[in-house]
Amino acid sequence: MNNEHQRLYTLTEFILGLMQKNGGAIPFQSWMNAALYAPKLGYYESETIFGKTGDFTTAAAMGNWLALAFAESIHKSWQAMGEPNHWTLLEQGGGNGVLLCNTLAQLATLGLTPPHIIAVETSEQLRQRQADNFAKHRFTVQQATHLQDIKPVENLIMFSNELPDAFPVQCFQYKDEQTIERGVDWDGQTFIWADLAPTKLDIGKHIQDKWQDGYISEFNPHLSSWQQDVSSLFERGVVLTVDYGYTQQEYYRAQRMEGTLMGHYQHQVVEDVLKLSPGLCDITAHVDFTALKKSGESAGLNSIAYTTQGAWLAQSASVQQHLQELAAHPSVDNMKQITQAKHLMLPTGMGESFKLLIQGKGLDESSSQSLVSPSFDRLHTL
Ligand SMILES: C[S@@+](CC[C@H](N)C(=O)[O-])C[C@H]1O[C@@H](n2cnc3c(N)ncnc32)[C@H](O)[C@@H]1O
Repeated sequence: MNNEHQRLYTLTEFILGLMQKNGGAIPFQSWMNAALYAPKLGYYESETIFGKTGDFTTAAAMGNWLALAFAESIHKSWQAMGEPNHWTLLEQGGGNGVLLCNTLAQLATLGLTPPHIIAVETSEQLRQRQADNFAKHRFTVQQATHLQDIKPVENLIMFSNELPDAFPVQCFQYKDEQTIERGVDWDGQTFIWADLAPTKLDIGKHIQDKWQDGYISEFNPHLSSWQQDVSSLFERGVVLTVDYGYTQQEYYRAQRMEGTLMGHYQHQVVEDVLKLSPGLCDITAHVDFTALKKSGESAGLNSIAYTTQGAWLAQSASVQQHLQELAAHPSVDNMKQITQAKHLMLPTGMGESFKLLIQGKGLDESSSQSLVSPSFDRLHTL
């Protein structure tokens, strides 16, 4: 058995151990948590997850576009905070660290060097890859495993790309006007779905009333505690969250009968995430941005703007300038980069499904309004 087979085998044994302790089926949320994050065993500890040879490619690896837009938003956020001398830049869930390195390089061209940089990443294997990347680019970055390990600071700008979609979700099925939690059992050979007890979810009744019997979806219980942890970190600052997702109304529309839970394995979508051995594929669910905004507000974060990734990139002066430079010097490589930009911006690519939520604390209203052009803001839809 090679190391990878050993990891998958041990992870299955680990999950069976959880079931034994629980006396049978476990909530899907616990299964997903183990499949992705079990120390040394979970999916994010495998070595080949990102890029062409892995299971998925994120926008972070598609040219410099996301870094250009993040750097510009970080620069504007710093200005909105009154240009403090002492401030911290934090990225959470940065994977291999490429986006943070590119963003820091881009910030330098804008004349901004964060005096204190933190990267919070749960995966041990990815923290090591980040450390290698930071060393290669000579960036001094404090690394941490959990947000709770960080000491609160006065001024903070925090960003993430595709983080909350990777939080373990609760799965449910709607039956007889009740939401029944879905669990995972073992039939002796493979993992199977199992109904657990009814559960109450913070999803509007007017939305639930439209569901038919058999409606399956999921709910992200970690958004609320995540927002509490984020908010407790700082007194003044901005939080930039980019991920794929919808308003609550759109997420839980009656026609979306199977929810958004899915796996990614070698660039193919896996519809039933229990089909493959746990630890073999990535597992994600879209983000309910209405719930995220609400959780943030309960935790003391003001909602500043909500827009699509396409609109965010399109209104970025740095992105537009770089596009013009590339177009002025056509070459195979430049055309490839322009194609990547189009994929990130157009509704047929990632432009519409990915969103940016901007939250803040301790800022006055006029300065926070400068963060996104009002004509692109869709906060009223959440
Ligand atoms: C889908 S990947 C995105 C990686 C990267 N941001 C990118 O755009 O390529 C999600 C990342 O978040 C990390 N992660 C998940 N939950 C986390 C948490 N609570 N704190 C820190 N990192 C977390 C995972 O280990 C993984 O690296």
